[in-house]
This record gives sequence, C-alpha cells and structure tokens, in this order.
Amino acid sequence: MTDTPTAKTPMLRSQDIDGALLEVDDLHVHFASRGKLFGTTPPPVKAVNGVSFSIAPEKTFGLVGESGSGKSTVARAILQLVDIQSGTIRLAGDDVTKVPPRDELDFRKNVQAVLQDPFSSLNQVHQTRTIVGDGITRHYGTKAGAARDERVGLLLDAVGLSREFLDRYPYEMSGGQRQRISIARALAVEPRLIIADEATSALDVSIQSQVINVLRRIQDDSGVSFLFIAHDLEVVKHVSHDLGVMYLGYLVEKGDANAIYDAPTHPYTEMLIASIPMPDPGVQAARRELRQTFEDDAEPPSPANLPPGCPFENRCPVAMDICREVMPEPTPAHHGGDVRCHLHTSGPELAGESVVEFIKTKAQSKLSGSQRSTDKSSTP
Ligand SMILES: Nc1ncnc2c1ncn2[C@@H]1O[C@H](COP(=O)(O)OP(=O)(O)O)[C@@H](O)[C@H]1O
Ligand code: SF4
Ligand SMILES: [Mg+2]
Repeated sequence: MTDTPTAKTPMLRSQDIDGALLEVDDLHVHFASRGKLFGTTPPPVKAVNGVSFSIAPEKTFGLVGESGSGKSTVARAILQLVDIQSGTIRLAGDDVTKVPPRDELDFRKNVQAVLQDPFSSLNQVHQTRTIVGDGITRHYGTKAGAARDERVGLLLDAVGLSREFLDRYPYEMSGGQRQRISIARALAVEPRLIIADEATSALDVSIQSQVINVLRRIQDDSGVSFLFIAHDLEVVKHVSHDLGVMYLGYLVEKGDANAIYDAPTHPYTEMLIASIPMPDPGVQAARRELRQTFEDDAEPPSPANLPPGCPFENRCPVAMDICREVMPEPTPAHHGGDVRCHLHTSGPELAGESVVEFIKTKAQSKLSGSQRSTDKSSTP
C-alpha cells in the first residue's frame, strides 16, 4: 500500500522483531461460575489451561477445536478483554498483560480483530468511509476528507471492493462484503497481528474461499500475521502455517499444519480429520469406519469439573489406565511441535509419531469384534 500517513504511535515492522511476534506461555483463564450451588460457590469454569504457542512475523497460526474448547477465550485474553489467571502474553517481546493505559493505543494499533458477525460489529449508521476511516483518524490524525477517502479507497482495493462502497452502509451489503469491510477496517491501522475469530464461519463456502484468498493476498502484500480461529479443521489447515488443536481448554497438539493434517499424533486431531467429508466414496467410507471407533455420543466433561486425567479419555478409542489418572504433559512430536497424549510415552510409546495406523488397527479389531458378536446373535 502507498501513501502511508505518519503514525502517531510507533509501528512494529517485521524486520524489527527478533524472534516471535506473539508468544503465549502457559496461559490459564478461569471464569467464576454464576450462582450458588446448595449454598456453596461452584468451582470456576477452567476455559483455558496451560496454553502455549507462538506466531512468527508474516505467518498464520490456526486454532481449531469444537465449540466450547476455549478458542475465543484465548483470543479475548490476547486482546485483553478478559482477565487471565496466570501466564504471559508477549507481543514483540513486551508483556501485553502489563500494558499501561498510555500504551493502549499502540497495542490496539498493532493487534486488530475480525470477528464472526460483521453485522453487529460494524456501526450501522455509518458509511464505509467512516467505518474504515475512523481508525485512520484515531491512529494517524488524518481528518475526514478527500485524503482519508483516498486511503480508505486503497484499503477497499486491497479487499477486492470497488470505490462505490465508500458510500454504502452495512445493511446495503452482503455478508461477504461486510466481512471484507471488517478486514479493511482492521488493516487501516497497519496492524502486525490480526485475530480472525470464526471470521469466515458464517459465510457460504464459495464466499468463504474468496475472503480467505483476500487474507492470503494481504499477508503477502503487508506481512501481517494472523491468529486464524475456526471450528472447521479443513478451513484452518488451508490457511495456516502452524496449527493448534484445542480440547476443553488444553492445546492437545500443535505444530506444522500440513504435517499434522497428514500424520496427526493426538487421537482427537485424528477424530477431527476423520470427520471431514471427502468426495471419494472409498476414502469417505474408510473415514466413517474410523470415526465409528470414537465414543461420539459420550458427553465431554464440564470445564467446571475437569477430571484429573486426560479430558478426552471417555471418547478416546485407545485410552489406557494411566489416562484416567494423569493429565499428559506436552511431548515433542514429529511435526516440530508437541502433543499431550500418553500414547507417546506409555503403552505403545509412539514417541511423537503418527497415531493413525495405531487407531486404524484398533478400529479393525473393534469392527471384527462387533462383526463376530453380530454373527453369534444371528446364529439360530
Ligand atoms: N464470560 C464467561 N463466563 C463464564 N464462562 C465462559 C465465559 N466465556 C466463555 N465461557 C466458557 O468457557 C469455555 C470456552 O468458551 P469459548 O472460549 O467461547 O470456546 P470456543 O470459542 O472454543 O467455542 C466454555 O465452556 C464457555 O461456556
Ligand atoms: S492421553 Fe489417553 S485418553 Fe487422552 S488422547 Fe491419549 S490415549 Fe486417549
Ligand atoms: Mg468461539
């Protein structure tokens, strides 16, 4: 982008960042449960438990997991919208949980968010020129007028919308167009990190891929990093360099996105992959078979009452005795990241390698077992 106005606050540039742009270390976020239970205070909801990951400049870290796994709480902790229990969150080396009020503008400039529902996050009574232009005024001092409109126009170019959108109100746009305006608004202050929380989840598949292409192009052009959050593993894998898989507040697996997708090391990741619909009927049938080995109907534990062991134990087809008692610690995995699962240190000792063949073998023996019992019950 050209014609960058002079920033009121210092701008972080990729070349100035030595190491990670964002480092989240051992993050815990608890929420007080509402109400009293038989006169006693109920235990807190442990929404995020010991989450650690980092995002390099110009890279995308994808965060995936079922609804309620704590993804948005991680995002809100980074954005300082919730109090954290413990842990550190560093942006270019500075602990953002200790940002004094005078540096708040600087932080907001470097970290922007794009959320799921642009209709509620865009001010309905303003045209695009104001929605996108306001941040330019706040952070660069450029007053409303031709120069600011020109800058907003360049941002519209970047998100693939024509200059006609300068005059439009949010209610005059489609969902995909509104989401592009949200992205333009985030980009207006030239952030180093954009947190996109379910930003494409409400869009039709074709619009979703258009918006994702916009995000990719923006990354190529501006070098911005993304924390891309969604419950759909296929979408997340498609856009991410690195991937983190969350289950009940724990980051159960993290590492190179393609390597995890090709050879996951955690049974829960394998369950998510087995749930992705495939066009090839043979592959789809094999995935369905694998999926059936997981205890799909088992209710996950409550985040207000987590078990002492692995929280995935009651759905896991390969759980062992130790899994009920001890929460696994992160162990190095083949994809350059780590995995929280006892299979890598106990039992078969997979030592950070793929869990796929191990679960398939279990699936086959489970299926042949149930086949035998069906044969027996049908014997006259
Ligand atoms: N403000 C809050 N007060 C109490 N519990 C909350 C609050 N926000 C989130 N939670 C709980 O924290 C857990 C994680 O929620 P969330 O981070 O929104 O998950 P996700 O984004 O993965 O769907 C859920 O059990 C949710 O009900
Ligand atoms: S720790 Fe045990 S229960 Fe948890 S995912 Fe690994 S094998 Fe399954
Ligand atoms: Mg969420």
